[in-house]
Amino acid sequence: MSKNALVRGYNSTSAFGATKKETRTKGLHSRCVRKGRISILGAVMLTSIIITIPQCYGVIIRCNNSTMKVIPRLMKVFPTTEGSLNLIHYKLGRVPLGGKNWTEMTQQLSQLLSGYNTRQMNYQNITECSEESPPAGHSCFFNIQLISSECTEAKTFGYRRSEPCIFLQFPNISNWEPVPYNISDPQTVNELPERLRSTYDPRYAYINCEGDTAFDRENLGFINYSPYQGFPVNFFPYTGQPNYMPPLVAVHFPTLRIGVAVNVVCKLWAKNVNHTEDAVPNGTVRFTLLVD
Ligand SMILES: *[C@@H]1O[C@H](CO)[C@@H](O)[C@H](O)[C@H]1NC(C)=O
Ligand SMILES: *[C@@H]1O[C@H](CO)[C@@H](O)[C@H](O)[C@H]1NC(C)=O
Ligand SMILES: *[C@@H]1O[C@H](CO)[C@@H](O)[C@H](O)[C@H]1NC(C)=O
Ligand SMILES: *[C@@H]1O[C@H](CO)[C@@H](O)[C@H](O)[C@H]1NC(C)=O
Ligand SMILES: *[C@@H]1O[C@H](CO)[C@@H](O)[C@H](O)[C@H]1NC(C)=O
Ligand SMILES: *[C@@H]1O[C@H](CO)[C@@H](O)[C@H](O)[C@H]1NC(C)=O
Repeated sequence: MSKNALVRGYNSTSAFGATKKETRTKGLHSRCVRKGRISILGAVMLTSIIITIPQCYGVIIRCNNSTMKVIPRLMKVFPTTEGSLNLIHYKLGRVPLGGKNWTEMTQQLSQLLSGYNTRQMNYQNITECSEESPPAGHSCFFNIQLISSECTEAKTFGYRRSEPCIFLQFPNISNWEPVPYNISDPQTVNELPERLRSTYDPRYAYINCEGDTAFDRENLGFINYSPYQGFPVNFFPYTGQPNYMPPLVAVHFPTLRIGVAVNVVCKLWAKNVNHTEDAVPNGTVRFTLLVD
């Protein structure tokens, strides 16, 4: 596997020394990082070596004289974004009469959802979970029928009418699980965004999207999430269960302003996710929406 392939796979890289930043991490992750550090020491003598740590969700690369750590993001954005701005751009209208690119995007979304075909309910090692966690070796069924009708193929996922739906998917990061906040703990209350506090349910790792600036927020308008505003915690951890259905959130922008590039930031909220610039794993995704 080449370094580039690895980097592309996670769509996120960061180059920094391996020691300083690691001291911030906690719990399961710090255990993994310590193993990672041992691996780096082992790798110092070699060049261009890639070390994967199977039971961890981070990958450390030692390449010539720099150590790179590929930091996995907890959410992957669909449709695919372009360039350093993570642009999602299409031209409004019927295709081919003026409209452009949105059919490629809706095809991508259809393909994403085809992996969640209801047929899979009968698949091996898939359980319909309600509140509880699935039995060992099994994982929960993700029911895409619960996604808002605005974000379905029948409605072209909103792209025909400048009301696009963006999907955020958990990218199968092994052995990671969100630690819910304790809402009666006063310190927790300060970390969570205010709007999530009153309805907070520890059965979800909440995802909150908003415009980057006041200007973006105004141009973005309303945001609807479905089937839930986050990932249900009983889908974690992913330990390689066969037929695993990674949780999804459809984020619908019904009042997006046309002709303006709008910067959107989405954050996943759990006690073990820090949104600072170099946090591991990265619980923040950014993209720019432009419909014209
Ligand atoms: C959208 O169309 C433009 C111009 O036709 C093209 O350069 C770009 O690659 C297209 N984007 C996608 C995602 O296909
Ligand atoms: C799938 O489920 C079966 C029956 O519960 C179990 O015996 C098996 O170990 C599971 N497979 C894996 C890969 O965990
Ligand atoms: C939540 O926090 C409250 C107040 O600090 C504490 O009494 C309670 O035991 C905590 N609950 C859990 C499940 O940690
Ligand atoms: C996650 O794992 C499932 C089951 O192994 C697989 O079908 C799916 O393609 C994987 N998804 C991603 C984003 O890697
Ligand atoms: C996140 O990381 C920053 C920088 O290390 C630290 O100051 C802050 O306390 C951390 N926040 C949480 C919630 O852990
Ligand atoms: C985490 O994501 C944010 C938002 O996209 C980005 O600014 C930051 O550089 C990322 N951090 C790392 C270490 O990739």
